[in-house]
Amino acid sequence: MKKQKALIAGGSGYLGRYVAQEFKNRGYHVRVLVRNPEKIKTTGEHGEPIIHDLVDEVITGDATKPETLLGICDDIDIVFSSLGLTKPDFKHTSFDIDYRGNKRILDLAIKAKVKKFIYISVFNAEKMLDISNIQAHEQFAGELRKSGMEYTIIRPTGYFSDMLQFLNLAKMGIMPILGDGDKRSNPIHAADLAMVAADAAEGDERDIDAGGPDIFTYREVGELAASVTGTKPMLLSIPLWIGEGLLTVSRLINRDIADIFSFALAVSKLDSVAPQLGTHHLADFFKENL
Ligand SMILES: NC(=O)c1ccc[n+]([C@@H]2O[C@H](COP(=O)([O-])OP(=O)(O)OC[C@H]3O[C@@H](n4cnc5c(N)ncnc54)[C@H](OP(=O)(O)O)[C@@H]3O)[C@@H](O)[C@H]2O)c1
Repeated sequence: MKKQKALIAGGSGYLGRYVAQEFKNRGYHVRVLVRNPEKIKTTGEHGEPIIHDLVDEVITGDATKPETLLGICDDIDIVFSSLGLTKPDFKHTSFDIDYRGNKRILDLAIKAKVKKFIYISVFNAEKMLDISNIQAHEQFAGELRKSGMEYTIIRPTGYFSDMLQFLNLAKMGIMPILGDGDKRSNPIHAADLAMVAADAAEGDERDIDAGGPDIFTYREVGELAASVTGTKPMLLSIPLWIGEGLLTVSRLINRDIADIFSFALAVSKLDSVAPQLGTHHLADFFKENL
């Protein structure tokens, strides 16, 4: 049988690198789309793998520059995209990257008769549609649903990489807790999520919610970080009304910072427990990233 070809958009990111590695391990021909090929020649900042020499093709392109994307979907069977805006960017909005950037790739995928498109949105997105980044994700998910192409939308909980904030704060001797810190979630390691994505390529589920194996309250994640670092950080309880005030101030500074803040506020008021998948434990990840 002919080798299946996968395009991984967002291939230099935390999740994208594990997905590229997982597809490669499963025998796919793997093409990654990156903005900077140098980035995937070294280990990622959260320990994600070097993939430059592992994958079959590295294509340099920028989702905001259509002329750099020409041909990226040619001969491709499966497109996976975790391409997104995750850090403050003073030039582009979430709509420019998460929606419009992915839409450009979807249009090329349709033209190239790609069989399936797998996209990463966010768990509980329907409860946070007032946040522009979540809106952009779900607006793209809507495009995918009406595209006529086979698709899977995966909605994961928070990534282990994001939980490292707790570890860094514990090292600094301070642990801010927004609200009561009693809301629960099961964060997931990108290697586990990559398995979910590769399974989706072979299955027929259209919407998949995914979380990690262990459920914690946010307070418990802080306690885990303190125990792994051997520190006794000072607990700083931030009432939600102060959080709302800080959000208003952040809106005056930058839209993306405000989005990150809105997201933190939203999850501090909401249980985010998705189906428990995977085998990686947060305690081990904290120890590896000390
Ligand atoms: N972090 C979480 O807890 C969480 C939870 C649920 C869902 N998600 C979603 O999962 C997705 C992936 O997250 P992640 O942590 O893997 O993010 P990440 O490490 O920041 O990766 C994002 C990828 O998108 C690429 N990218 C950004 N702008 C681009 C552009 N204009 N053209 C081409 N590539 C571009 C980045 O390239 P560079 O390497 O060049 O920057 C990177 O490869 C995001 O959509 C995020 O919203 C995240």
